[in-house]
Amino acid sequence: MQLSDFGCGTAVLSITALVLLAILIVREYIVPVAKGLKRVPEALVWPYRGDTQRLLSDGEQMYAQRMDKYGPVFSTWILGRRSIVIGALDTVKWCLTKEHGLLEADWPASTRLLLGKGSLAASSGERHLLLRKLLKPAFSLPGVAQMVPKMGAIAEQCMSKWASKGRVQGLLAAKEFTFRVILELVFGFEEGRLSPELVDHYTNTFIVLAEHLFSYPINFPGFGFWTGMKAKKALIDIIKDNMNYIRERQKRVGTASDVDQVRAISCVEEILVKLEEAEEQMSDDDVADMLVNLLFAGHDTSAHTLTRLLAELPRHPEVWDRLKREQAEVVAEQGPEMSADALKAMTYLEVVIKEMQRLHPIVGGVFRKATEDFELPGGFYIPKGRQIFLNLGHSLKYDERWAGETGRLSPHCFCPERWLSEEGQKTGAFLPFGAGLRMCIGFLLAQTEMKVFVATLVRGYSYAPEDVNEPWNNWPFGGEPVHDLQMQIKKI
Ligand code: HEM
Repeated sequence: MQLSDFGCGTAVLSITALVLLAILIVREYIVPVAKGLKRVPEALVWPYRGDTQRLLSDGEQMYAQRMDKYGPVFSTWILGRRSIVIGALDTVKWCLTKEHGLLEADWPASTRLLLGKGSLAASSGERHLLLRKLLKPAFSLPGVAQMVPKMGAIAEQCMSKWASKGRVQGLLAAKEFTFRVILELVFGFEEGRLSPELVDHYTNTFIVLAEHLFSYPINFPGFGFWTGMKAKKALIDIIKDNMNYIRERQKRVGTASDVDQVRAISCVEEILVKLEEAEEQMSDDDVADMLVNLLFAGHDTSAHTLTRLLAELPRHPEVWDRLKREQAEVVAEQGPEMSADALKAMTYLEVVIKEMQRLHPIVGGVFRKATEDFELPGGFYIPKGRQIFLNLGHSLKYDERWAGETGRLSPHCFCPERWLSEEGQKTGAFLPFGAGLRMCIGFLLAQTEMKVFVATLVRGYSYAPEDVNEPWNNWPFGGEPVHDLQMQIKKI
């Protein structure tokens, strides 16, 4: 290489850098002014690195500090991308209604690839609407109501097993329950086909996949993403094998709709029936992707909320006593069976779960991407392509209804009664399941399984964590007790 070539290369690089800088200045400074809009305040952070580490280790504190300094809309870097963080409730709600318009869901590349193109998370526009339509009956009120007796039986089996051992890790126990709910009631695995070894194998495969959902998308041996892809393939094989088994069973005993009076119908059965009727064909790989997405979205979320409850309830004997009284009344009125009507009558349990979701929301926020330049309420300019983080957790916890409250009603206290007060009855911030076209499709299932779990526990068991004040890690998302919440449990 000659010296003149080197000089020429440097010149090209410099010109490119200058052009990029000019584009940046026009886009970030001149366009907003020309449009008469405000620039989103920029947090003083290192580019690329930005706030990712703090978001993962201490998100709540990070938001509080940034919002104090810059207001409820500010710009920072998250996961290597410039991102606008929005914490004002009305603006968050506004953004959630703009899906498939100004905004679209935006997951990191590794998550999209690992969940696959058939998943809800990775789909957008018409395709996304089609998938939701396909899933809707299975997750509707009647769809979930018919799962309740079976769910009650799973809860009872799990708890009597734990009680026979006398000691269990609360986190793993909650995960075991929600995993079985997904395997049996969503995926349609028959109980007899699920040995403990098989459940362990599925759980471990899923854990490997989940661990690499947020990784660098390099599909080469030695990289986490490659390991995640291998786990994904193993899961897809398991799921497809079960789908074939269900198809065979449907041929033998009729379709789900023929037998729905007799037994609980899994979501997979519903979906397979709907697919037969649908004009649009879906490959088995796409259906399997969709199911992996359900597992990812629906397993840890409910399990973590239940673990929070397991940790919190022993600190509030008055809440436990009131739950016990309510269960005694429900059993007296409705009988001992776990049914949809019985769950409806558990109004106190409902606010206990609601309060837990307020205090420790498992989904702290959701990512979106601007599909065009637009004006955010408040007069801020949002450029096309910018990543947006809608902070659900902050608005949930610091709802105006409890602002300035002290004592039990302070936003930091666990106080289910707040929801029964006059203020609590008013509409305010409650978005643990999101809103709009992307609102959690499994929210009824989640609420039902959490109610069934706590009701079964309160009715027939007593338990005590070995450390009532066990600290929690902030990572993974939603946090986990540092020693998995070791607890003694016995049947009463
Ligand atoms: C406590 C439990 C749960 C919480 C807090 C929760 C929360 C959420 C939130 C906030 C979203 C919105 C994501 C967004 O706007 O981008 C969501 C989406 C979703 N959830 Fe849940 N979820 C829970 C349980 C479940 C369960 C049990 C299932 C199903 C088995 C499920 C399946 C899904 C799916 C498939 C989506 C994607 C919807 C779409 O993109 O259209 N979730 N969830």
